[in-house]
Parts: sequence; structure tokens; C-alpha cells
Amino acid sequence: MNIFITRALPGDVLAPLAEVGAVTVSPHDRPLTPAELRAGVAGADAVITTLNDRVDQEVLVAAGPRLRVVANTATGYDNLDVAAITAHGAVATNTPGVLVDATADLTMALLLDVTRRVSEGDRLIRSGEPWSWDIGFLLGAGLQERRLGIVGMGAIGQAVAVRAAAFGMDVVHHSRRGTGVGLAELLSTSDVVSLHCPLTKETRHLIDEAALRLMKPGAYLVNTARGPVVDEAALAQALRTSEIAGAALDVYEDEPRVHPDLLELDNVVLTPHLGSATTETRTRMAAVAVQNVVAVLTAGEPTTPISFPENS
Ligand code: GLV
Repeated sequence: MNIFITRALPGDVLAPLAEVGAVTVSPHDRPLTPAELRAGVAGADAVITTLNDRVDQEVLVAAGPRLRVVANTATGYDNLDVAAITAHGAVATNTPGVLVDATADLTMALLLDVTRRVSEGDRLIRSGEPWSWDIGFLLGAGLQERRLGIVGMGAIGQAVAVRAAAFGMDVVHHSRRGTGVGLAELLSTSDVVSLHCPLTKETRHLIDEAALRLMKPGAYLVNTARGPVVDEAALAQALRTSEIAGAALDVYEDEPRVHPDLLELDNVVLTPHLGSATTETRTRMAAVAVQNVVAVLTAGEPTTPISFPENS
């Protein structure tokens, strides 16, 4: 069996793979180009991908008929054409569950940072500008009794709700399953809106100019889901004109590019897709991907399959 891994994995998690096949790990310390990905997967029985790898029909043709599993080292899988993988006779898997707490923690870190101007204060001190304690200096917004609107009430959304409630926030949510409040109500009544939905055809640019206009002037937007859920140009415009108070983003429309206007604004906190970035969590994610490959190649059944049709 041939197993291709598109980017080095942490820890000793590769050991079980050596029992079932020959393992090739990309030698590059960067995402593969589409051509490198196609060359790497040729003749593979299993591929372990990251969210940077777009697995489409072309990649499947390049892989050939032996391919049985595409194991994504992420919970989101908008980078995989699950329909095409299924039609190819392979299964697609992800790593749900193991990154829930890490992502919810980072969401709270961003929420606190943008509302209490932590990064802004850090930048100010590093700039060498003189400062002194003052009754009105660098004031932010308190969270107690403020409303948090969670868009997407899966495991991560629920974990954020628990944390936010502990901070004294009043939590509402909107879910594609129809629970919670309508999106317009959530946007127009929340002091912080936090995105936790997957990227799908329906959620691409869910937060566009019109949605931003519905938000309260003092509201904040937090995105730890997927960049294209937000129209970044419209967001930059809404922040520039103080239509909303601030934003904290971990994900971007065209990663790793960030809309240049956002870089100029002080009321935006930017982190480089760190939602699951703890040593423990990344190791567990890699282990789940490895487990899926071993399970499919030895028993034909993955541990955490992505079902197709999705959401069925
Ligand atoms: C990270 O963004 C993931 O989906 O796991």
C-alpha cells in the first residue's frame, strides 16, 4: 500500500502507518502546489491532506484507481470535493471532536482581545509612544450582560456558548438545522457575532455588506470558521466607516493573503489560522487522520467518515 502525506505530521503518530504500507511524506515545509499534489498522489492508496490541499477531480484522476481514502487533517473539509471522492470509490475523512476546545479557547482569546484592545495596547507599547494610566485611556467594551450571537451551533459553537456564559454573556444562536433565532435577528441584536459554521455554497459570504449593515454600530465580529464566510472587502469597509466596532479574524478569504485594508486598521485583531494550534490538539488531529487511513486500508471502514450526501 502507498500512503502519501502532503505535509509533515507532528510527534510519533506515523508509526501505525508503517505497519500497513510505504509512507511518503512531502519534503517541502510549505503547502504543495497543485502540480506537486498531483505528482505526490499518483498511485497512492491513501492520502493524508491538510486544509491547504484542494482535492478535486483532477487530483483524483492523478491519484488513479487504487485510491481508497483521503484523510483530511482538519475538521472543516471545504477543500475536498467529497462528491468526487465518493464517486471515485474512495472515502473522505476529517478530524471532528478533537479540536473543539482549542478552537473555542482561541475564539474567546480573540473575543477578549478585540473587545479589550489587547493587541492594540501591545502595539502601542512596542511603538515607544508615551502613555500613562488615564481614566479614559484605551477603553474597550465589557462582556457582562452583552449578547453573543453564535452562527453555527455545532460542537465548537456549543463550546463557545459555555465559555461565553461563564463570562456573563447572554448567548443566542442561529443554526442551519433551524434551532435558535433567525440570522437577521441575531445580527441586529448581538454585541458580538461569532462564526462557527462550515464553509458551504450557502455560507459563502453569509456575512456580506447587507449582513454587516444589520449589525449594531458597537458590535464586534469574530471569525474562527472559514475566511470566505465573510466578504472581507465589505468587512474592511464596515470597519473603516465604524459601521461596526471591531473584528477579530483567524481565517481569511484567500489564505495566507489578508485584505490589505484590514492591515491598516487598529480595530482588527488578526491571527494566522491558529484555531486548533496547540501541541496536544494538533497531535490528536494527526493521530485521527492516521487512524482513519489504517482503518480503511485494513478493515475498509474509517473511524470518522464524512458522509455523502453531506448532512444526511
Ligand atoms: C481547521 O481550521 C479545521 O477545520 O480543522
